[in-house]
Amino acid sequence: MKTTLSVIKADIGSIGGHIRPSERLLEEVKNYVTTKGRSLVTDFYISHTGDDIALLFAHSLGKGSEKIHQLAWDTFVAGTKVAKDQGLYGAGQDLLKDSFSGNVRGLGPAVAEMEFQERPNEPFLFFAADKTDPGAYNLPLYLSFADPMYNSGLILSPSMSKGFRFVIMDVSYTEGDRLIELNAPEELYDIAALLRDNQRFVIEAIYSRNNEEIVASVSTTRLHNIAGKYTGKDDPVMLVRVQGAFPATGEVLAPFNIGHYVAGFMRGSHNGPLMPVRINSSISYFDGPPVVCGHAFCVHDGKLTEPADAFDHPYWDYVRNKVSQKATDIRAQGFSGAAMLSYSELEYGGIVEKMKKLEAKFKVGL
Ligand code: F6R
Ligand code: MG
Ligand code: MG
Repeated sequence: MKTTLSVIKADIGSIGGHIRPSERLLEEVKNYVTTKGRSLVTDFYISHTGDDIALLFAHSLGKGSEKIHQLAWDTFVAGTKVAKDQGLYGAGQDLLKDSFSGNVRGLGPAVAEMEFQERPNEPFLFFAADKTDPGAYNLPLYLSFADPMYNSGLILSPSMSKGFRFVIMDVSYTEGDRLIELNAPEELYDIAALLRDNQRFVIEAIYSRNNEEIVASVSTTRLHNIAGKYTGKDDPVMLVRVQGAFPATGEVLAPFNIGHYVAGFMRGSHNGPLMPVRINSSISYFDGPPVVCGHAFCVHDGKLTEPADAFDHPYWDYVRNKVSQKATDIRAQGFSGAAMLSYSELEYGGIVEKMKKLEAKFKVGL
């Protein structure tokens, strides 16, 4: 029997601004899944990253299961009721449609799923990020799956000798899923040419070319393409299987020590360094900085262990200090140049109105 891992996450309200959900909201979400999900899932785990709540389900119903998606949707609806009762900020923020229609894709919540035959031991990582978008994972995934400077297994392990296949989505295309498949290492330069553009081209999945197994799955939703206006950044989740024929846990974590600049931060409209944080961290400085947490699990017969907190180690304190410095440095230049996103990526419409008014005031001299 195959195991499916489904992570479905949404921001359904938080305390003190877009900071973190309340304890009561988290309780409600846990109680709801415990009661209604008992017969559907083999196991589950719930955590938050900033203002987003992620539901990790282990089950045997396959990817895109209507029952699992319905469970997630109903859980978020039940949570939204509590968020409204408590007067939480942004209650129901990511539930963009009024009713469920078979799959949460396109309704607001972000989804990452994978189905596989469990190995005798099946370690995997579940990442959740806040105040950024799915392109934030492009660089770390490129480095840990295609660069022997970060993944020593590409040199040392025969089981990774053939490299990996990248499935990349053009997220600016809204008529359907526009995908391209490229092989590392042969097509490295093509992969890099796409992945440099984090706002448009996003890794959706990675497969091993040694055994054709799924290794990584990323949520690729672009909320602003669904809603047609700003509704919050996409705050992506990701699943990565590790060890054996796949990168080691440490090889997947390694590139997160860069604290690379990603889109998001305040009002989803700035560039900020991605800070690796502990599970269940909140948001602070300038509604950021953009954060990512990593849960390391094993799954066996559909049952999850407790997670090890991948970034809870003295090494990452040093990284967090370095990233704090990078965040302070870029914030020193406020709205200027590289600190803010380009006009087309700004998440707030107000500036469009402002520019229209200013356009009318321009005069061309002879
Ligand atoms: C970014 C984010 C926050 C809000 C900001 C203003 O993803 O969630 O930075 O954009 O706090 O929020 P509103 O417009 O809700 O007052
Ligand atoms: Mg929010
Ligand atoms: Mg969020």
